[in-house]
Amino acid sequence: MKIQKQLYIFTILLVLFLTTSIISQSIHLQNPTGRDYTSLNGKWNIIVDPYENGYYDYRYQPNPNGYFKNRKMENRWDLIEYDFDKSPKINVPGDWNSQIDELYLYEGTVWYQRYFELKPEADGRYFIHFGAVNYESIIYVNGELVGNHVGGFTSFTLEITDYVKEDTNFVVVKVDNKRKREAVPTLNTDWFNYGGITRDVHLIKTSKMFVSDYSISLADKKTDQIEVNLNIEGPLLPAKLSLEIPELEIKKELKIENSSTKFIIEASPILWNPDNPKLYDVLIKFGEEIITDKIGFRTISTDGTDILLNGKSIYLRGISIHEEAPFMNGARAYAEEHATTILGWAKELGCNFVRLAHYPHNEKMIKKADELGLLVWSENPVYWTILWENEATYKNAENQLVEMINRDKNRASVVLWSMSNETPINDPRLIFLKNLAAKARTMDPSRLITAALERHYINETTLMIDDPLGEFVDVIGCNEYIGWYDGLPEKAQKLSWQSIYDKPVIISEFGGGALFGHHGDELTRWTEEYQNSVYKNNIEMLDKVDFIKGMSPWILKDFRSPRRPLPQIQDFWNRKGLISDEGQRKSAFFTLQKFYSKKAEMGN
Ligand code: GCU
Repeated sequence: MKIQKQLYIFTILLVLFLTTSIISQSIHLQNPTGRDYTSLNGKWNIIVDPYENGYYDYRYQPNPNGYFKNRKMENRWDLIEYDFDKSPKINVPGDWNSQIDELYLYEGTVWYQRYFELKPEADGRYFIHFGAVNYESIIYVNGELVGNHVGGFTSFTLEITDYVKEDTNFVVVKVDNKRKREAVPTLNTDWFNYGGITRDVHLIKTSKMFVSDYSISLADKKTDQIEVNLNIEGPLLPAKLSLEIPELEIKKELKIENSSTKFIIEASPILWNPDNPKLYDVLIKFGEEIITDKIGFRTISTDGTDILLNGKSIYLRGISIHEEAPFMNGARAYAEEHATTILGWAKELGCNFVRLAHYPHNEKMIKKADELGLLVWSENPVYWTILWENEATYKNAENQLVEMINRDKNRASVVLWSMSNETPINDPRLIFLKNLAAKARTMDPSRLITAALERHYINETTLMIDDPLGEFVDVIGCNEYIGWYDGLPEKAQKLSWQSIYDKPVIISEFGGGALFGHHGDELTRWTEEYQNSVYKNNIEMLDKVDFIKGMSPWILKDFRSPRRPLPQIQDFWNRKGLISDEGQRKSAFFTLQKFYSKKAEMGN
């Protein structure tokens, strides 16, 4: 008996080792839609699985014949208690909460499945790319485990070359959006936990050897040199690569001899800026492949408390934005038209800057910001009370940071990498965030590091910025809610500000709530008049502080939040938007617009 038991345990361990060790790890594939890709968007079949019955057997052990096998009855006596083909369908991309009423507040596992046709070529390599899946996902192709991913707002790519076959294939994705204390973000946030395959899914074909990653930007603050870094994936065979920027009459040809290649091109491109967001067509030709991209060239730096864009000081006229599509009664944004509407509103407001809170937004938002000339603050979802001393939590946060930077490092609009939002001041948090900031700086020394910090009073009328994290960032973000969580609006008139840092400060949040069309006097909470008074008093106060070089008030549009239940006013919406979900502009929108118009006229 003893030997049998040992044999059984050994077999289980061997199966576990084989299934985990052959998971193909996520590879960073730069700019998937600039390559040879096929969309897997559209209707997918789903099975809602709150007990994870499709994954575990009745002894809570991983079931080797789980739903990911997509089994079909072959005999009339077969017992199979699921069938994707006969199950409900859902649109991908898109969260499940807004598509299926019964799933509005659902937090748990949903299985996704679809078929796709393929004629694999002998020298081809095949990848599946997800723009984002919130929050944890396990990916299977033709019933085999391919890989997994943790994090709801960053893209990932898995190689499926060894799993695909001629003609009909199927992909199954286990998506679990349960919030967890040790996750990033943690259990409590002030936004809606939209679950699902919330962004595009692509099938990508490459050659055996291909350009997997690249970065193309001005060389270290120079405006007459372009630095190119290329990573080649696959068996290194002698091959020629050419990098072309036709409008700059650049056609650089080189022989590839190493998997990592870096070179400099003498060029003086027109510099990208909000008033002239110049983008250049870039082509990378390698073997049979052509990768196309549109890239802007600019420098960003600080000098004391100034922020310099292309060497000239700039005031960031911003607004904070959650990734929620307008006119959809609460849904994750994912489409080009969502980006066009949302960033169009920011331009109408007079913005040259947007804070994309509190997580990396979809790639279309960033590419649209490149086109429209909006500077971007992009944020890692290290929000509020993360488990600072949990190693796995740090690894998760760092991985999401790496994926955020890798995806958008060629986007001129992105100028600020934000490490966190409103985190409590303590030593474990400082170590956690200091390490993230160091990681970001190592990966991308060309951009500025920031975080949304808090301030405190040193006396009744003086606000102080002295969070120790300030030492490790280039630009200090600071959230304040004078007139909303902190006194009444006119309190702002009595206050002054101090900072211990000789660094630029951006007021990354201020604001108040109002239900569109709800009116009263300036002291009646929830009226447009009260919200407008919050804006008027804060703008007047902040505009007097010389080290404040920008702001991104909270927030462009009302957004769904389970923390906001007040009936007839909030109804589970955070009402601090300047615009309602139906696109109605509240009075404070015009107050901020007027301030920004004045700042722009003054050359800020
Ligand atoms: C906080 C937080 C936001 C939140 C806002 C609010 O500052 O950063 O995520 O939505 O305040 O209370 O509305």
